[in-house]
Amino acid sequence: MKIAIGCDHGGIVLKDAVLAELKGRGIEVKDMGCFDSSSVDYPDFALAVAEEVSSGRCEKGILMCGTGIGIAIAANKVKGIRCAVCHDVFTATMSAEHNNANILSMGGRVVSPALAVQMVRAWLDTPFGGGRHAGRVAKITAIEEKYFK
Ligand code: RB5
Repeated sequence: MKIAIGCDHGGIVLKDAVLAELKGRGIEVKDMGCFDSSSVDYPDFALAVAEEVSSGRCEKGILMCGTGIGIAIAANKVKGIRCAVCHDVFTATMSAEHNNANILSMGGRVVSPALAVQMVRAWLDTPFGGGRHAGRVAKITAIEEKYFK
């Protein structure tokens, strides 16, 4: 599996721990930045990761900003992206099982690096539930088809 990862200065506190977890699992990581704590604009990193996932170059993505919110809003503007802002292991698990989220978003000012790692584990280890959830996700895709040009 190949995962794209990206963050802004608010999310960079989580990045090393998340990278170590992914590499420890033998997952190939495409790191789209940022690379230090200088102030940057989160939509740039959201777009870079979302394009990796939307194009199929990476199977999944992980984004981190201060809250996880702005970077997720931006990523969800890219066709085919289901980016979920999660705050704990439960929401990370549900985002995989119910929503088939292909990008996990977390806030460096919201969760600790240790919790972020637990959330990544839960998100990666939880399969999509399918069934009734597949129908609902298909309805999300139908909305996308209606409004994306
Ligand atoms: C940057 O200060 C902050 O606005 C950003 O990291 C994020 O929280 C936006 O949603």
